[in-house]
Amino acid sequence: MFFFSFLYKSFLEKNSLRKVASEDGFLVGASVSSIPFLEDEKYRKILKDEFNLLTIENDMKFAKIHPQRDSYNFVIPDLIVEFALENDMKVRGHTLVWHATLPDWLTYKNYSKEELTIILKNHIQEVVGHYRGKIYAWDVVNEAYNDDGTLRENIWLKTIGPAYIELAFKWAHEADPNALLFYNDYSNEGINPKSNAIFEMVKNFKNKGIPVNGVGFQMHSSITYSKNYEKIIENFKRYRNIGVDVQITEMDVKVQHSHAPYDRRLEQQADMYSKTLNVCLLSSNCSAFVTWGVVDKYSWIPGFTGQKDAPLLFDNQYRSKPSYDALYKELEENSN
Ligand code: G3I
Repeated sequence: MFFFSFLYKSFLEKNSLRKVASEDGFLVGASVSSIPFLEDEKYRKILKDEFNLLTIENDMKFAKIHPQRDSYNFVIPDLIVEFALENDMKVRGHTLVWHATLPDWLTYKNYSKEELTIILKNHIQEVVGHYRGKIYAWDVVNEAYNDDGTLRENIWLKTIGPAYIELAFKWAHEADPNALLFYNDYSNEGINPKSNAIFEMVKNFKNKGIPVNGVGFQMHSSITYSKNYEKIIENFKRYRNIGVDVQITEMDVKVQHSHAPYDRRLEQQADMYSKTLNVCLLSSNCSAFVTWGVVDKYSWIPGFTGQKDAPLLFDNQYRSKPSYDALYKELEENSN
């Protein structure tokens, strides 16, 4: 009887990315943007039907969650975290330490090293502490490196010094010892001066006992740039050898700047998504694949580039695109 009711339930349950991914314990996610999350029922339905992991796109960034020196605003991230947990999804917290989206109270004043160190420690411990037990993984530090492998000049480096990165990991771990802690960046997926510098930092942290669990690879991409998938595998492998997880954390694929017919561009986009997921599935330490948005019309890209685009898995009518089908197929082919 139990067997038949199980079969019947599986038959009724619509196939989805999360369903096929969950069969192997794999996480497939998307970033959530607050306006559609609050206003668009169809958007929320896609989130819960298709994904078992969410990243909060903007609302946990410093300026949003800590808008005044003495006050925090957890309203929207609390709603998203609650929604995720109710729907049996995990949450990636994004991001505790970054050079961008900082509040004016922080950037318009010159703080001493001691003051800024206390501000950063309090920020991390307040935010991570608020979500203790609810956030599966934090992007603790985001985009701290330049392409040439040097540290990016930002308020944290300038005032606290390079130790701000390891301090951030220690403080986050103290506030939630069970959350996985990630360093996250872009253009770090191949083998290059930036990815080498990040690898050396993470290796050094592991040797010194600094609590780092993983590295996030954003993967903002375009059909007009090619990727060397062999090098990505090689990079992921060196992390596996030092016991560090990797995740694709912010993938999207621009289709602008191409003269190919639109259908062809969507096929090229689908190919890029599926090859990237394939690299992740082939790497035993790659535990999640997250797209930066869900429905094309809410993507950050048109606002940023000033050009129309369609970088995601669902079109403006909420129909799944070839990119969705390609990811589904890739997950299905790799499921045991
Ligand atoms: O909420 C305001 C709205 O009230 C106002 O009318 C509108 C006018 O510009 O701006 C809205 O805020 C924008 C916000 O996105 C929400 O759409 C900000 O100006 C804009 O700067 C912000 O951009 C975000 C950007 O990070 C900076 O924080 C993007 O949505 C977000 O996708 C992007 O995400 C980053 C990751 O965090 C790190 N990796 C790269 C990735 C893409 O840049």
